[in-house]
Amino acid sequence: MDVMRIEGGNTLSGSISVSGAKNAALPIFAATLLTEETCILENVPNLSDIRFMAQILEHLGAEVEQIAPTSWKISAKTISHRAPYDLVRKMRASVCLMGPLAGRLKKAEISLPGGCVIGPRPIDMHLKGFAGLGMKVEVDKGYVFLDATEACGNPIFLGGRHGSTVTGTANVLMAAVLTPGKTIIECAACEPEVVDLCKMLVSMGADIQGIGSPTLTIVGVAKLSGCRYTILPDRIEAGTFLIAGAMAGDNLTVTNLRVADQAALIDKLKEAGVPLTIESDSAVTVSKSSSPLKPVDVVTHPHPGFPTDVQAQMSTLMSVTPGISIVTEKIFPNRFMHVPELQRMGADIAIEGPNAIVKGQSKLSGAPVMASDLRASAALILAGLVAEGTTWVLRIYHLDRGYDKIDEKLRAVGAVIDRIPESDMPKDLNPEAA
Ligand code: EPU
Repeated sequence: MDVMRIEGGNTLSGSISVSGAKNAALPIFAATLLTEETCILENVPNLSDIRFMAQILEHLGAEVEQIAPTSWKISAKTISHRAPYDLVRKMRASVCLMGPLAGRLKKAEISLPGGCVIGPRPIDMHLKGFAGLGMKVEVDKGYVFLDATEACGNPIFLGGRHGSTVTGTANVLMAAVLTPGKTIIECAACEPEVVDLCKMLVSMGADIQGIGSPTLTIVGVAKLSGCRYTILPDRIEAGTFLIAGAMAGDNLTVTNLRVADQAALIDKLKEAGVPLTIESDSAVTVSKSSSPLKPVDVVTHPHPGFPTDVQAQMSTLMSVTPGISIVTEKIFPNRFMHVPELQRMGADIAIEGPNAIVKGQSKLSGAPVMASDLRASAALILAGLVAEGTTWVLRIYHLDRGYDKIDEKLRAVGAVIDRIPESDMPKDLNPEAA
């Protein structure tokens, strides 16, 4: 396994481009199962999660081909309705297969995905939505069984304790587009990735009104066609680069983002005093301030609020910002796996329930640290960029799930970062060495 080695203290400048969005691409790959015809997907990020989703689709019977570095061709002429545990357990997003399989085949048998380090990830709202469509829903021996032979459109409320559900909305939506009658999803997730999925479905012939709002009205159609669809830019990758610029940038321009999707983060960066220029709808230039930033409090919310997927990275920025910031996690209240590792680098962060109380330090110091999940890994990379000395990030397979060549992209703008075999890491620094 490889390790990411970062020499801190280098300035980032030039242009860094954002890839396609993982969390749009995954349900969109699943949505190709809704048609027998061929779908061509473009601006697909180069990620292990995408390759994994491709394998699951192949297992289900689809023909899947990567026709160019960022383009995939998927033809799901004949497919099976069963996704077993050994496939599903490796990636939570495989729950997104339920909706398309139940929509097209009128039945689905999908293993429950199991645990996740960022906290409990129930799918009760997905199941409530399927039941609301009139499906028979059964959970037995770790599998969800859906029988949609008598499904029909209905009003469905999809709000929960933490607000809307992103993949729950995607799942019910994908089932509803091929379910007879009118479905109204209230409290639908408004995340740009859900909007992107809606647009892709519309390009296949689906009838969806209210796209981007919390009320989605879907009139089921008998059949969907193939499509050619370009996936939107990844707002979380973009946000991670904007924060990198705030920490170590000298006119770092993040390109191929959508400024409209960054409103909450840009607002907080400005509040902290980060020098930031919006160059166009798709480019933002950001620099490290010559004077100390101000601490800011951050609370995560469903879109358009501050995204939970940027919380760890923002906490890293606040950990080198003088003063006290309070970061409150409202979506996944236990999502603080990055904190103990940042503490190893000298960050002063205390966790009190769903709050991280961050006391900004004048410096962080490089250390071997362990990636625990995708966004925690990104937070550690950011810390490494500004830490004194060398940071070694272990278990970077988490990073490869969701960041397209992050080391190459950061290196091209001046970071000193490389990927080396774990065996080349000094043994005395490797906590995993025997
Ligand atoms: N929830 C329930 N019941 C459900 C579904 C969700 O209680 O049936 C709760 C969750 O436990 C959570 C909240 O509702 O407290 C929101 O969860 P949501 O369903 O929106 O999350 P998700 O769809 O499982 C997606 C992203 C996550 C991102 C969240 C929140 C994908 C593949 N995953 O997860 O992305 O953090 O939305 O925006 O789209 C990541 O990319 O690192 C990542 C974890």
